[in-house]
Amino acid sequence: MRHEKTVAIVTGAGHGIGKAIAAQLAREGAAVGVVDIDAAGGKATVELLIDGGAKAHFVGADITDFAAVEAAFADIAAKLGAVTLLVNNAAFSDAGSLETISLDGWHREVNINLNGTYHCIRAIVPAMRAAGGGSIVNIASVNALRYFGNPSYSAAKAGIISLTQSVATEYGAAGIRCNAVCPGSVRTDNVTWTIRQQKDPDVFKKLARWYPVGRVAEPSDVAAAVAFLGAPEAAYISGAVLNVDGGLTAGMNVMIDDFILEAR
Ligand SMILES: NC(=O)c1ccc[n+]([C@@H]2O[C@H](COP(=O)([O-])OP(=O)(O)OC[C@H]3O[C@@H](n4cnc5c(N)ncnc54)[C@H](O)[C@@H]3O)[C@@H](O)[C@H]2O)c1
Repeated sequence: MRHEKTVAIVTGAGHGIGKAIAAQLAREGAAVGVVDIDAAGGKATVELLIDGGAKAHFVGADITDFAAVEAAFADIAAKLGAVTLLVNNAAFSDAGSLETISLDGWHREVNINLNGTYHCIRAIVPAMRAAGGGSIVNIASVNALRYFGNPSYSAAKAGIISLTQSVATEYGAAGIRCNAVCPGSVRTDNVTWTIRQQKDPDVFKKLARWYPVGRVAEPSDVAAAVAFLGAPEAAYISGAVLNVDGGLTAGMNVMIDDFILEAR
């Protein structure tokens, strides 16, 4: 029960990785506020957490709207208590390449993924400062570190790493820790993976060979890392970028298979 004193907000917890993060934190004792633009998904997650015996509360908000984020966070604090952990997980991408992206598409993805994350940080810092500290975990991506398609999303995720370092440095003395997690491919039904699976139903199976551990991630793999970074045992970890990528960015597995001819 590492999180029995935690009051968490998880953005985008109506689906996929955010839902797994909310469930893991709740299992470890946290009260969890869910903020999502999708009311049906967000409410379903909160029902799941409450059925499991946790305290939870849903507020619908679009993270690109700063006033809506402030109101949602105030509502959650009023229902669950002062927020000690913010997980910036909500995100969106549907734009595959520089060649095909529209100007609006570029702006939309930077706005949701980078500005939305900034809005949530800006909204939580005054309360965390007043409480003497807190923890923020930002979900970035391996796309922040190398190019794997989705250029606007990737630029926004790289910006999230810089933002993580700014927050960790500026607010460390206020007791606020801030870290980022970079997942590789995670089996979810988000918009990007839905498009890719429609083109190739075996996409996750094919991708497995790029991962030294031999598989893509499950949402629970990312949730485990977030629960650790947000817990008291990570008290001295701030400004870190933790790859949860099965070794993808450690080397060039498939290329090595092409030039090392003896069995590995
Ligand atoms: N799935 C992957 O392979 C993968 C890989 C690396 C990083 N990530 C990151 O993990 C996180 C979760 O990804 P996922 O695959 O679970 O995505 P998902 O699409 O399944 O879930 C994202 C959630 O965010 C919500 N959301 C979207 N826009 C919003 C907005 N403007 N305001 C509020 N809520 C909004 C959606 O309604 C949804 O519930 C994201 O930050 C994503 O970039 C995912």
